[in-house]
Amino acid sequence: MRKAKLFKPIKIGPVELKNRIVMAPMTRNRAANEHEAPTELHMEYYSQRSSAGLILSEGSPVSPAARGYIATAGIYNDAQEKGWKKVNRAVHEKNGHIQIQLWHVGRVSHPYFHNGEKPPAPSAIRPDAMSFTPDGFKPSPEPREMTKDEIKSTIEDFRKAAARSKKAGFDGAQIHGANGYLIEQFLHSSANQRTDEYGGSIEKRARFLFEVIDAVAGEIGEERTSLRLSPSNLFNTGNDPDSKELYKYVIEKLNGYNLSYLELVEALGDLSEHPNLVPNVTEHYRPLYNGVLMTNGDFSREEAIEVVENGTADMVSFARLFLANPDLPERFEVNAELNEPDSDTFYGGRAEGYTDYPFLEDSTV
Ligand SMILES: Cc1cc2nc3c(=O)[nH]c(=O)nc-3n(C[C@H](O)[C@H](O)[C@H](O)COP(=O)(O)O)c2cc1C
Repeated sequence: MRKAKLFKPIKIGPVELKNRIVMAPMTRNRAANEHEAPTELHMEYYSQRSSAGLILSEGSPVSPAARGYIATAGIYNDAQEKGWKKVNRAVHEKNGHIQIQLWHVGRVSHPYFHNGEKPPAPSAIRPDAMSFTPDGFKPSPEPREMTKDEIKSTIEDFRKAAARSKKAGFDGAQIHGANGYLIEQFLHSSANQRTDEYGGSIEKRARFLFEVIDAVAGEIGEERTSLRLSPSNLFNTGNDPDSKELYKYVIEKLNGYNLSYLELVEALGDLSEHPNLVPNVTEHYRPLYNGVLMTNGDFSREEAIEVVENGTADMVSFARLFLANPDLPERFEVNAELNEPDSDTFYGGRAEGYTDYPFLEDSTV
């Protein structure tokens, strides 16, 4: 039988991936140590999943101010860089590839992370969102509007984080432009009411994103820089009236870059009351993008095979299925049964629900 394209190699920039099955970025809150650095446990978790064509790390804060959830392994201090270096070495020893997800939560945060002060955001508009504090999930309060100097220094934080990620041995960096966090806050008029050059028209709202891309790509190269967008997202964000025009502008402008790939997250919520949001995200935006396209969002094995076979996407990323199945590509190839993810152990804790999901060989013995 002919092998489906999903299981065949693909080149992204200078890196050849062994298959098109990607581990999606997942915050797991296991870096509960003084420097919020990756540990031996992280090394084991990622190394177990090295059969992915590409691993995307958990969202990794680019600075202390970029945090909104406890115990997230960042990329702004030496201990973190050292921890990631060990993770990357372990993944590479198993012929895997890994990119870091560069993350700034913006207003999806809490004063706990800001010495009691309000979190930074494009505008002082409170999100309908929760932050993960030592006392559990807490509503994010009204943020404060970032000054222009702060915007510049935040872009600089992305640049420094990209430089560190290169030193730590990552194969590239994915800029987190999705799920209602800082970059999406700038993009969306529901979160961005600025009247300077970072707010107002679509072009101005997209300025922050493109300045971040320029900063990251300036450090590691466009061909190792990638981007995640969620054009029909309802998580942590309001409902933008000009969403289709916004993402058309952004995606077409990305054609001017030679990015590693663009990842689009499908609509994961109920769009029945949001006619301005596109239901089939990847299908809708595919014709606008000339580069390598990755899709994500509730894909089954069969749907993933189909979407790559018919050319709507070049790669598919899986979050929950990869969380629960360290050997997901092998299971997909032989169409084996899948372990069920346990949502009680998604965020926080230690090895349980993290590194103890069985491999196929363990379950068949
Ligand atoms: C435990 C968990 C943590 C997540 N953390 C992140 C994250 O850090 N960054 C991100 O972009 N998406 C994150 N997501 C969203 C996933 O990457 C993905 O978009 C979503 O789960 C849908 O994909 P799936 O149906 O394959 O699980 C997370 C999802 C889960 C389940």
